Amino acid sequence: MSISESIPKQCSIVVLISGSGSNLQALIDHAEHGGYAIRAVISNKADAYGLTRAAEANIPTSVLSHREFLSREAFDTELATLIDQFEPDLVVLAGFMRILSASFVNHYAGRLINIHPSLLPKFPGTNTHQRALDEGEELHGASVHFVTEELDGGPVIARRSVSIEAGDSAESLAAKVLEQEHQLYPMVVSWFANGELRMADGRAIHSSKTLPDTVHAG
Ligand code: GAR
Repeated sequence: MSISESIPKQCSIVVLISGSGSNLQALIDHAEHGGYAIRAVISNKADAYGLTRAAEANIPTSVLSHREFLSREAFDTELATLIDQFEPDLVVLAGFMRILSASFVNHYAGRLINIHPSLLPKFPGTNTHQRALDEGEELHGASVHFVTEELDGGPVIARRSVSIEAGDSAESLAAKVLEQEHQLYPMVVSWFANGELRMADGRAIHSSKTLPDTVHAG
């Protein structure tokens, strides 16, 4: 056996962002320990601060503006071509604020994950923190899920919760939830990198257990 055959291949990921990239930063900070390498960061917004974070970590960046395409499908086709140049094992959506077409999602079935700021299946879509407050929820949080054609509806992998306290606002809740996201996302990506996580029959499986079996209190 040659040396290259005896060294397990490191899990390659591509991260898609649209904004601040604080989850990207958490993924950068945990990459070595988590057993994965970020091959590229792609943003649909040229002014996304996450691009600066990536550049500071010497990670290649690309900007692909959806505004330059006539249709969702045309943008998604170009995006997939760009992603596939890096041959990722996993594509990680980290605050990527685009609805993805069915053909894009199906191309990456089982190797496309998203983090969402609510305890899914509660509050798919946008404005999740204010909606949790308006509904009088006592618990709120974040979820990581495999992406399928249903918006924020793919199999949930793991969740972290926070308590909603009297006096919380959408802003204070967003900050509390983000803190949990920064622990949750690197953990899930490292599960995938270490071969412990997969999607099968529309479910998330960790080793041999169907997920999520608990909501972890933050
Ligand atoms: C995070 O709260 C993430 O859960 C959310 O956007 C924020 C991105 O923050 N994603 C969605 O709402 C996706 N529907 P970041 O850019 O600082 O990581």
